Amino acid sequence: MDSDELKREAASWVDAGRLDDLPPGSMRRIDDASQRVLIANVAGTPLAVADTCTHEDASLSMGALDGETVRCPLHGSRFCLRDGRAMDEPAEIDLACFAVRVSHGRLQVCIPDSDTPR
Ligand code: FES
Repeated sequence: MDSDELKREAASWVDAGRLDDLPPGSMRRIDDASQRVLIANVAGTPLAVADTCTHEDASLSMGALDGETVRCPLHGSRFCLRDGRAMDEPAEIDLACFAVRVSHGRLQVCIPDSDTPR
């Protein structure tokens, strides 16, 4: 078993609401006990990343969604929602990405258990 498989085993699928409530071009924040997650619908594909900007403590859900990027509301860094990559300064650290699935019309995000090393 490789390390990715181990991480998946030590993770939980968290309900993120109805897929129909997240139309293409929209995003929202999910507050899990251990993690704030931004989930966005990018042209029909739900993608999830950490919601807190890696530069300072800003919620990316308050920023702007533009295609497959989100712009931080505080200083304007953009992040790619597909891979979490920080695309502009001042942010230099990439966002964590989370797997998303749809089950019976509901979005679910795979969030590592809080004591799992990342
Ligand atoms: S807090 Fe996000 S770019 Fe500064």
